[in-house]
Amino acid sequence: METKIPIEDVSAQGGSILDTGTEDPRLIGELHSKENNFTSNENPLKCELRRSRHLQSDGEHTTGTPVIEVINVKKSYILADMEVPILHDINLEVREGEFLAIMGPSGSGKSTLMNLIGFLDRPTEGKIIIKGLDINELSDKEVARLRGLEIGFIFQTFNLIPRLTALENVELPTYANIRSGIDAHARAKELLTLVGLEDRMHHKPGELSGGQSQRVAIARALINDPAILLADEPTGNLDSKTGCEILNMFTRLNEDGRTIVMITHDPEIARYADRIVLVKDGIIQNNSE
Ligand SMILES: Nc1ncnc2c1ncn2[C@@H]1O[C@H](COP(=O)(O)OP(=O)(O)OP(=O)(O)O)[C@@H](O)[C@H]1O
Ligand SMILES: [Mg+2]
Repeated sequence: METKIPIEDVSAQGGSILDTGTEDPRLIGELHSKENNFTSNENPLKCELRRSRHLQSDGEHTTGTPVIEVINVKKSYILADMEVPILHDINLEVREGEFLAIMGPSGSGKSTLMNLIGFLDRPTEGKIIIKGLDINELSDKEVARLRGLEIGFIFQTFNLIPRLTALENVELPTYANIRSGIDAHARAKELLTLVGLEDRMHHKPGELSGGQSQRVAIARALINDPAILLADEPTGNLDSKTGCEILNMFTRLNEDGRTIVMITHDPEIARYADRIVLVKDGIIQNNSE
């Protein structure tokens, strides 16, 4: 059985992504219901997932338009008047429709890099370009709009607002940015149904399990139908079966055209990505770009 959910096409060719408030491009995205998506699984770490579409590749290089460009990026923090370098000289290109996994030891700078790509922090040096737009050249309002409409962020610790219901949490990003013609309330309900939480919409995060909370976080990340999903260890706090379910959702979303960047410590999870980059001591070790 398949559930068809109308999805605003944010990755439509052509127009500037900052103009989306006046555009109303549509397409019907097909996402399978959880009955099809989720695989019951007794064996830890073995997800019975099928990848029906892989990005075109000529062996070493994937093809397609770059949607994320990280150019000569350095990031340092100032601690007790000392500059502590975290990311040294990062160059990374992620192409439209690509599913990229970032791996690396704890403390190597993976989340720092993800936060920079998601505009949650600014680089000390270098450029971040999202869908051709250099954030250094955008106003604060334009950056907020780009982040709100084009980037869905999924955190390891869910980051849900405890006093809001699941439904209100999913709707929350639309208070700041919303695409024209969208009924946020109806879409939030559709998304919660899509992630299998139709009977938990009015529960607060404290009344949800970890896996359910992560599904709410995924629905929240999708509310503005972003072209890019950034996920920082989305399965890190979940048991292996729930982790498989979440990963299965990601592969469906990727097959539906979204670009996904996912941090994981789990090589079994990472192998479902099109490409894996390894961050170690603030440097990308195996960048094939
Ligand atoms: N706000 C901050 N101020 C100072 N140092 C920070 C800050 N955020 C991160 N760091 C430091 O940056 C380094 C990289 O942290 P980061 O969270 O990016 O690692 P990570 O690779 O995501 O690790 P993990 O796998 O444990 O999540 C760590 O040494 C951390 O202490
Ligand atoms: Mg981290």
